[in-house]
Amino acid sequence: MERPLIGGWRCAVCGRTVDIAEPFSWRCPGAVGDDRHHALELVQSISPLRSTGDTNPFLGFRRYLAVDAFMGAHGLTDVAREALIAGLDAQVAAVEGTGFVTTPFFRADELSAALGFTPDGGVWVKDETHNVGGSHKARHLFTILVHLVAAEQMGVAPWASAGAAARPSLAIASCGNAALAAATLAAAVSWPIRVFVPPSANLHVTKRLGELGAEIVVCPRQAGDPPGDPCVHRFREAVAAGAVPFSVQGTENAWCLDGGRTIGWEMARHMEEQIEGPPFDRLFVQVGGGAFAASVMAGFRMSGITPRLHAVQTQACAPLARAWEAARAAAVGGPKHAAAHWADCMWPWEHVGESAADGILDDETYDWLPVLGAMADGRGAPVVVTEADVLAANEVGCRTTGIDASHTGTAGLAGLMALRREGPLQVQPDERVAVIFSGIRR
Ligand SMILES: Cc1ncc(COP(=O)(O)O)c(C=O)c1O
Ligand SMILES: [Zn+2]
Repeated sequence: MERPLIGGWRCAVCGRTVDIAEPFSWRCPGAVGDDRHHALELVQSISPLRSTGDTNPFLGFRRYLAVDAFMGAHGLTDVAREALIAGLDAQVAAVEGTGFVTTPFFRADELSAALGFTPDGGVWVKDETHNVGGSHKARHLFTILVHLVAAEQMGVAPWASAGAAARPSLAIASCGNAALAAATLAAAVSWPIRVFVPPSANLHVTKRLGELGAEIVVCPRQAGDPPGDPCVHRFREAVAAGAVPFSVQGTENAWCLDGGRTIGWEMARHMEEQIEGPPFDRLFVQVGGGAFAASVMAGFRMSGITPRLHAVQTQACAPLARAWEAARAAAVGGPKHAAAHWADCMWPWEHVGESAADGILDDETYDWLPVLGAMADGRGAPVVVTEADVLAANEVGCRTTGIDASHTGTAGLAGLMALRREGPLQVQPDERVAVIFSGIRR
């Protein structure tokens, strides 16, 4: 039998560990009540990253997934694990028209020329706009779904003997791509889901959520609410009452960080197998809650390639850039010590402004620790872009590639354009840079 690659989870803040066999280990056991200042990370042995060649990344890279190790720890055979994931993917495809497939990744020649790159260098674009749910978000949620369905089938879920009717509801606080991805996956397995949205939620999105069978809970601020997003308060109340946190924030459900890595694995493998010449110098990733950038880099790291990471935020809301500066201050002593100084580095952005890149306006970068760590390890740095950068990146990015991405989806490119503009010493014309067009225009 092959040695399992994953032993379990370890909290970067308090050091507690959780065995991989533990079901529903959504949060660090040290995170009690409303405490979210914990950060579970996967403890994984080093192994060369190889795909079986299956075009579905959850099958091609299955042996690296924490959820595969979870199923294995409960005695599910290799064949049964493969069948469970393939079966769920078929159910997703029945709702969505397509299941999970390796998404396109290519050198964007016209865009590279427009930004002044030489033929040796250039910009590579990963296109997530035709992924399940129209963005990368479903990758994060699929591993939570596999965990739930596997726990039910293996008989380790408390409701398992009572049947599907006894399933606890899924819960998510979102009115964008994450909600659509969550409702799509829930519909695929007919699992009840409640989506907590603000009164200002986009009507096209709520309509689609309704079509997918989600229960929409509109969350105005209530008298006596503590500061912070009322949707998050209602979401946490639902979770405290037994709902499953079907969230793409690692602090609410660390298992979202498992599947998010598939995007980094796909990019790293593609680079090694199909791109001649040197590896990527830099990666620009748009950052809201931070799970996306954390997962992409965790995926890359397993391939042994670590491009410089630039976490991109807008001037309207840049708590990660603030945390980066705070962590470098003498009182903290550098990013390596940041975990012990959460409250000194990361707190909600006081006055969130407006931006066309509205998917990255999270007032807190919940998963800031792994993103900060990845930037520090690889000589990266955050980039804060202007609204003009956000608009210009979307215009040139979509026009030159023909991809119909949202402003949030092209915000990483805005970071590259901002750094290119800062002078030739910043990003050289012969550098190789990767960005991810993470979501479709709605
Ligand atoms: C299209 C798109 N890209 C990127 C992000 C940012 O991801 P994260 O919140 O994990 O940082 C989001 C989040 O809503 C998104 O919708
Ligand atoms: Zn902890």
